[in-house]
Amino acid sequence: MSTSDKQCRIIALFNQAGGVAKSTLTQNLGYHLAKREHRVLLIDLDPQASLTKFMGLVPSQLQKTVADAI
Ligand SMILES: Nc1ncnc2c1ncn2[C@@H]1O[C@H](COP(=O)(O)OP(=O)(O)OP(=O)(O)O)[C@@H](O)[C@H]1O
Ligand SMILES: [Mg+2]
Repeated sequence: MSTSDKQCRIIALFNQAGGVAKSTLTQNLGYHLAKREHRVLLIDLDPQASLTKFMGLVPSQLQKTVADAI
């Protein structure tokens, strides 16, 4: 693996339309990259927190969210 292959890559999935599986695709892409031994960080910036919920977390029970960082 070359040095450039080890660099962090940011993948943003976007579509103007609502409900077209952006969050679902993000979750599944993250899952499959992790299965291939890539280190993955999924960042949920959407206030509706679908990705957070898809990952089995309860947003109201989190002590800190990305909103605190912002
Ligand atoms: N391949 C699929 N087949 C059937 N249902 C799906 C599929 N992919 C996603 N869904 C369902 O479609 C709905 C919308 O998916 P998702 O929340 O990923 O869309 P989104 O584009 O992130 O929506 P939003 O614009 O609200 O953020 C969810 O209920 C999800 O479970
Ligand atoms: Mg979404």
